[in-house]
Amino acid sequence: MEVYAGLAGIPVVKSSISYIDGEKGVLEYRGIPIEELAKNSNFLETSYLLVFGKLPSKEEYEKFVSDVKDNLFLDRSIIQFLKDIPPETHPMKVLQSIIPVLSAFDENKEVLDEKHHYSALVNLLGKVPTILATWKRIKEGKEIVMPDPSLDYGENFLYMISGRKPDKLEGRIFDRCLILHAEHTINASTFTAIVVVSTLADFYSAVSSAVGSLSGRLHGGANERVYYMLNELKHINDIEGYVDQKLSRKERIMGFGHRVYKTYDPRAKIIKEMLDQILSLKGNNELVRIATELEKIVLDRLKGKKIYPNIDFYSGILYSLLGIPVEFYTPVFAMARISGWIAHCKEYIRENKLFRPTQIYDGGHNIRYLPLEKR
Ligand code: ACO
Repeated sequence: MEVYAGLAGIPVVKSSISYIDGEKGVLEYRGIPIEELAKNSNFLETSYLLVFGKLPSKEEYEKFVSDVKDNLFLDRSIIQFLKDIPPETHPMKVLQSIIPVLSAFDENKEVLDEKHHYSALVNLLGKVPTILATWKRIKEGKEIVMPDPSLDYGENFLYMISGRKPDKLEGRIFDRCLILHAEHTINASTFTAIVVVSTLADFYSAVSSAVGSLSGRLHGGANERVYYMLNELKHINDIEGYVDQKLSRKERIMGFGHRVYKTYDPRAKIIKEMLDQILSLKGNNELVRIATELEKIVLDRLKGKKIYPNIDFYSGILYSLLGIPVEFYTPVFAMARISGWIAHCKEYIRENKLFRPTQIYDGGHNIRYLPLEKR
């Protein structure tokens, strides 16, 4: 027996939800290239595609959007829960702790029942943006902004965090970011979700655990750290020295490299295009200049190792231009990934097998117990 560290390259499921060709830089959701979806679809339609395996008909789409919108508002007890959390708590921890509580408001509790899959999906898609925005407003001591169901999904989130109706282009760009983050095969957080659901715990427990998994800096937490890194690099002349020092200490540069992509992350390409669009609206930006230069230098140093920017490299800058505070970058990623996590939970549970890997024991045997006073 041998240990497969991090299960790298070991298939654990058969899935038809998404596909990556890491050498060619291809990402498809249900067979449709990510570029097609980012250009033509919207986040809720893409969520439907991921979870139900096909693009919805007009009626199916309208019902789905209306079911999500019916779930935008929070119960008073959830708002009180948010008010009672210490304001310095990271929003990923807030999200992770509050998601299981939402199950109390879902009458479909049986995890093997498709009704649970649907109600958890629309409940979470509806409420998670409201929870995040409400938490932001509470933490900042500002008045809570109620959801506006007349707005599109992405627009409504930008509205709830700022109290300002966003420009149509901003709303559309944010919605496209959600599409890009919605799904990405069996990564650490999705694996976490299916491990939890394999015990027949419900979808709320699975999604809450996946949020915890996503929060780490080697996974979703990287976008926040990219932003801090770019802000640390005050001047363009500092970048070369910073990169060389990091590499000589064998440290990772946040926002670069990927377990699967060995070429440019296709999502990073789309984010970069959207960044150009938003810059045309808002004017040039120093962080973008620093990021562009950093990319050039890192590519020069690490291209030989097939290290390119990943989705997190430019997403934070884009979010900052949309008025999203840095500690909400990873929660926004989580908000989008709900549809991917639920699609995988729904697929996995159909032919459920409890995850129970094995280990190679390398400890001792028959060791005598030593009383405390003799240790
Ligand atoms: N900076 C510097 N060197 C790097 C980086 C990086 N960001 N990423 C990989 N390398 C180097 C490794 O040190 C290794 O060098 P070596 O062969 O001399 O030992 C080589 O490139 C190959 O890297 P691996 O360790 O095989 O890459 P792995 O697949 O294990 O790691 C990971 C992928 C964790 C994403 C890594 O690239 C990393 O830490 N990146 C920074 C964090 C980050 O941006 N995470 C977000 C990922 S995308 C997402 O989760 C949404």
